Amino acid sequence: MQNWSKNFYERVLYLLEVKLKLIGFSSGGVGHEGNVGRIVKAIMDKSGLEAEFVKLTDLTYSGCKGCVQLCAVPQVCRLQDDLFPYYQKIKEADAVVIGTPVYGNTFNAIMYSFLERFFGYRHVSFALQDKPFVLVVCGHRKTDTATEHLQERLRRSAVKIVDTVQFVSNSPPCLMCGRHRECSIGGLYTVMGEAAHTLTVTPDLFCKWENSSDTIIAVESAVTKLKGVLAI
Ligand SMILES: Cc1cc2nc3c(=O)[nH]c(=O)nc-3n(C[C@H](O)[C@H](O)[C@H](O)COP(=O)(O)O)c2cc1C
Repeated sequence: MQNWSKNFYERVLYLLEVKLKLIGFSSGGVGHEGNVGRIVKAIMDKSGLEAEFVKLTDLTYSGCKGCVQLCAVPQVCRLQDDLFPYYQKIKEADAVVIGTPVYGNTFNAIMYSFLERFFGYRHVSFALQDKPFVLVVCGHRKTDTATEHLQERLRRSAVKIVDTVQFVSNSPPCLMCGRHRECSIGGLYTVMGEAAHTLTVTPDLFCKWENSSDTIIAVESAVTKLKGVLAI
């Protein structure tokens, strides 16, 4: 029945040539698709919408440079760097997914610079008012503070935060840095103590959200809520 309904809605949208657009961003670590990017992609795929994924870490850009006379009238950031095309795409998208890792107990600076330029949407009125946003926050230890900070940041743009998916991996970055055997200050040592100095790093130590039943449910729930607000 569910599949039938899905096909039915897809056919109706196709016949009406109404193609809802989703754009998703991840500020997850460079050189691999970590939990952040994979959750963002999963939400995009499961939504069934036409979707574009952007890995912010692969782009070169800065935060807001204060050239407010440029963004005031178009109500979109006009700074000419790799992010330039995406601010207009966000304006035109029907929904947006934003994912960040936790760095230093908050969302990372790559995400901060990206969101700082949402200032362009706030002149006289809110250009993104009530646009549906799904948020994704992943950390190795704790995500609640970063989630509050991210939500607070986005509320400044008056968007509609539909849901936030959080995933705690228990896999600190020390597992990748290669110096855990000589380190007594990092996250791995904090959690394991001296045992970190003899640890052999094996693939099973890298926890994936796909193996967490709670996170699978959270992703499904976010997609259901997103489809609900989009009435699909
Ligand atoms: C520089 C740095 C700082 C981090 N700080 C925290 C932290 O304060 N709290 C936490 O829970 N995880 C922290 N982490 C772990 C990442 O948030 C976590 O590994 C996340 O899942 C990475 O996502 P990705 O694999 O998609 O890049 C940190 C990682 C890095 C590289």
